[in-house]
Amino acid sequence: MKNDLISRDLRHIWHPCSQMKDYEQFPPLEVVGAEGSHLILKDGRKIIDAVSSWWCKSLGHGHPRLREALIKQASKFEHVISANTSNETLVELSEKLSGLCPPLSKVFYGGDGSTAVEIALKLALHAQGAKGQAQRTKFISLENGYHGESGLALAVSDLGIYREPYASVLPEPVILRGLPYVSSSEDPLWKDCSSAWPVIEAQLKPYAETGAALIVEPVLQGAGGMRVYSPDLLRRLRAWTREHGVYLIADEILTGFWRTGEILAMRHAVVAPDLLCLSKALTGGWLPFSAVLIDQSIHDLFYSDYGKGRDFLHSNTYSGNALGAAVALEALSIYSEPGFAGTVSQLSQNMSKAWKQVMASTGVLENPRFLGGVVAADLRLPETLRDQRVGFQVYQEAASRGALLRNLGNTLYWLPPLNSPPEVIGALAEITSESIKAVQKRLNF
Ligand SMILES: Cc1ncc(COP(=O)(O)O)c(C=O)c1O
Repeated sequence: MKNDLISRDLRHIWHPCSQMKDYEQFPPLEVVGAEGSHLILKDGRKIIDAVSSWWCKSLGHGHPRLREALIKQASKFEHVISANTSNETLVELSEKLSGLCPPLSKVFYGGDGSTAVEIALKLALHAQGAKGQAQRTKFISLENGYHGESGLALAVSDLGIYREPYASVLPEPVILRGLPYVSSSEDPLWKDCSSAWPVIEAQLKPYAETGAALIVEPVLQGAGGMRVYSPDLLRRLRAWTREHGVYLIADEILTGFWRTGEILAMRHAVVAPDLLCLSKALTGGWLPFSAVLIDQSIHDLFYSDYGKGRDFLHSNTYSGNALGAAVALEALSIYSEPGFAGTVSQLSQNMSKAWKQVMASTGVLENPRFLGGVVAADLRLPETLRDQRVGFQVYQEAASRGALLRNLGNTLYWLPPLNSPPEVIGALAEITSESIKAVQKRLNF
């Protein structure tokens, strides 16, 4: 029996979001370190983490300031129950977070992104009941939306591959279709999507009296294919939800902290939701940690004597974890430095230019998308190759050439750390082009 690390791994570990049989031909990469935009492998290679390790390493791996914050907190205490206790780190973080999206002034902490979404959906439903609107039980979400893997989060997601096996036990959301998708902020739809609105408004209308909450990934939908839609839609959805008493939940778990070129994606629309979910980049991807920012009026609905149905008894063991809070506090301080917006804007320009070169040199990418620290496009494939997992082949080629692309099926994208230097983007472009060309040659398309 082989006893190298990968054999031991595959004997016991069931890897997330994977078909385990795939590991027979594409074994896990053995990581021994991670630094900036790179993973360091056992065989000595440094490969580019082009997906920021599932979109959370916005400040790169091993950021010295985040490490220091973690160590400092760990030397005081690492975790205490956050019901009935308080501490300086958590209070300071909450003060900062409550200024991020006025008027959302209350913060409820969770463990990971999915937990934050559960908290927001539960709060919205419970708050409707507390307002005497118990008939408002419908969740509304967007086509191609993704909000996580736990029950309610999966229920409001529109991705069959994740949702379908469990559909029989999940509540059925209302899914709005016909979104005004754009290629970039240059698209005229970006500023004005009035042409798309009547179709969407008509889908909303039947739920004016029964809608509890509408949940969106603002502007950028990640797992649904790195799709970008007009922020004008958010303005219209905000106005509609406000008019009809439906809560608006912004899931900024992917988009939060500059990924779309604004500190929050809701800023593109210049409107605030009622609840806003944060995770991933909140700690620079150091720890499982999430927060829901909440409008004071929702909090006040629950402020009552105990046992009157107004107690929000949601509890996660690691809610407000001190290590996560300390790292998040330092990450926030980096994100709010005056130069950070410029860093993202420079990255955005470098990525756009390099992505256009990849598209031109390969000639098989279509439907390009550009926004902040994300670029994406879809492989244009002949009918005969649509079921051939061509994207997966590109991913394997890229891994062997020095980049972890982990594309979404046949959608290729880059979502690297926001502080990736130009030479990393240059190398990524070269690797992506060569990988696509290698697969083109093999499959002759
Ligand atoms: C928009 C969005 N919401 C929620 C989640 C779930 O977060 P987590 O994987 O931390 O549970 C994700 C994860 O990718 C996400 O992209």
